Amino acid sequence: MKFFIDTANLEQIKEAQDLGILDGVTTNPSLMAKEGISGKDAILNHYKTICEIVDGDISAEVLSTTYEEMIKEGDELAAIHPNIVVKIPMIKDGIKALKYFSNKGIKTNCTLIFSAGQALLAAKAGANYVSPFLGRLDDISVDGMNLIEEIRIIFDNYMFDTEILAASIRSPMHIINCAKIGADVITSPLDSILNLLNHPLTDKGLAQFVADAKKMG
Ligand code: E4P
Repeated sequence: MKFFIDTANLEQIKEAQDLGILDGVTTNPSLMAKEGISGKDAILNHYKTICEIVDGDISAEVLSTTYEEMIKEGDELAAIHPNIVVKIPMIKDGIKALKYFSNKGIKTNCTLIFSAGQALLAAKAGANYVSPFLGRLDDISVDGMNLIEEIRIIFDNYMFDTEILAASIRSPMHIINCAKIGADVITSPLDSILNLLNHPLTDKGLAQFVADAKKMG
């Protein structure tokens, strides 16, 4: 299972990278705006910096929504670094753009997936990743984890190479349940990844071991 961090914050990306368990990064326009990144040059530079920190797939989302604009923008993003994955929204023109990039050998991540049918279409168009948004489904009282299960069954039935990139992760339990179902990748905020570390019995046990170690001189 691959672990991606879902942020454009360079400090958090460095912290996750230092842990030694990071396989990639996902961003979106909201996460980029949160870091105050604006303007084409600043956006391209920020992705370049992320690629220099992490040696793995880095999802960079197009800002446009028409086929012509998306392929122009995606080509520019892909030219930044070989690890850039062009992130394309799940819309009709997006399907065409996925196919265009697939034919060119440029990696893609289809974002804003909320149904199994959308994931199937993206896989048919040659997406390397589909990003079902768990947390946003949970927010409207729909079980996001059911969607991961449905997509897993469909992709396994037809041996699609497209990887399930579980997104909109809000808790360590999301990560554990994705691992149980067999999502290929999770992309998560740093705090949910770090929360996987915690167990009170680990803290208690370690405190005892440290105390006993002192007795041993
Ligand atoms: C990742 O690709 C998505 O953009 C992200 O996980 C969305 O998360 P959110 O629903 O917490 O904004």
